[in-house]
Amino acid sequence: MEFFDSHAHYNDEKFDADREEILEKIKEAGITKLVVAGYSIESSAKAIQIAEKNDWMYATCGISPNDLVENCDEAVKQIEALCKCSKKVVAIGEIGLDYYWNKENKEQQKEFFKAQIELANKLNLPIVIHSRDAYIDTIEMLKKEPCNKKGIFHCCQQNIELVKEALASGYYISMAGPYTFKNAKTAPDIIKMVPLENLLIETDSPYLAPEPVRGTRNDSRNVIKVAEKIAEIKQISLEEIAKATFNNAIKIFGIN
Ligand code: NI
Repeated sequence: MEFFDSHAHYNDEKFDADREEILEKIKEAGITKLVVAGYSIESSAKAIQIAEKNDWMYATCGISPNDLVENCDEAVKQIEALCKCSKKVVAIGEIGLDYYWNKENKEQQKEFFKAQIELANKLNLPIVIHSRDAYIDTIEMLKKEPCNKKGIFHCCQQNIELVKEALASGYYISMAGPYTFKNAKTAPDIIKMVPLENLLIETDSPYLAPEPVRGTRNDSRNVIKVAEKIAEIKQISLEEIAKATFNNAIKIFGIN
C-alpha cells in the first residue's frame, strides 16, 4: 500500500536536527509521495530546496494569512520567481483567510489571497487553501476570484456548510489529524459527506498529530492513522482510501 501525504512542513525548523533520517523512515513506512507546503517566502524557498533533493517530494509556494508582509505586490513577485525556478512546484499555497489568529487585518488578508489566486491562474496551478473561522469570506472570494485549476481545502475545518460549498465548487477536501480527535463531533458526518473522488489526506506535520499520538511532533507516517479513521467511518478498506487519495493527489497536483 502506498500513501500520499498532501501537506506537510518539512521546511519547519522542528525537523532541522533529523530531517533526512525522518524522511527515510517515512518512505520506508509506505508514504511514497508528499508535498512540502510553503507559507512565507523563506519557507517556500526551503520547500523547493527539500523537494529538489528528494525525487518523491513536491513543493507549494505561497504566503499564508498568518505570514503577511507589508508590500503585497513585491511579495507575490518573489513567490512567482520561486515558482519559476523549479519544476517541483505543484501549487500556490498555503494561502487564504484566518480570522482565528488575525481578525484585525481582514482586508489585507483578502488582498494577498486575491493576488495569489491571480498568480495561480497566471502559472496554471491549483491553490492550497488555509481557511480558519473564515468560511463565508473564503467561499465568496473563490466565487469572485475563481482559480481555474481549482484546489484543495487543506486541513479542512469540520464545518458542514464549508464542506458543502467547497464540494459544490469542485474543490478537494483534505483531512488531517483533527478528524481523529475524540472531541471531533461533526467529523463522522463530514467523512461520510465527502465522496472518494474529492478526498485527500494529510498530516500538516509537525503539527496536529492524530489520535493516539496527539500532542507529539507529527510526521507523515501518521497519515495512515487519518486514513484508518476515514476507512472505519466510511466502512471501506484502507486500501481503497490509500488508492483514491493517492490518485486524487497525483491528479490535482498534475504529477506524472
Ligand atoms: Ni500547513
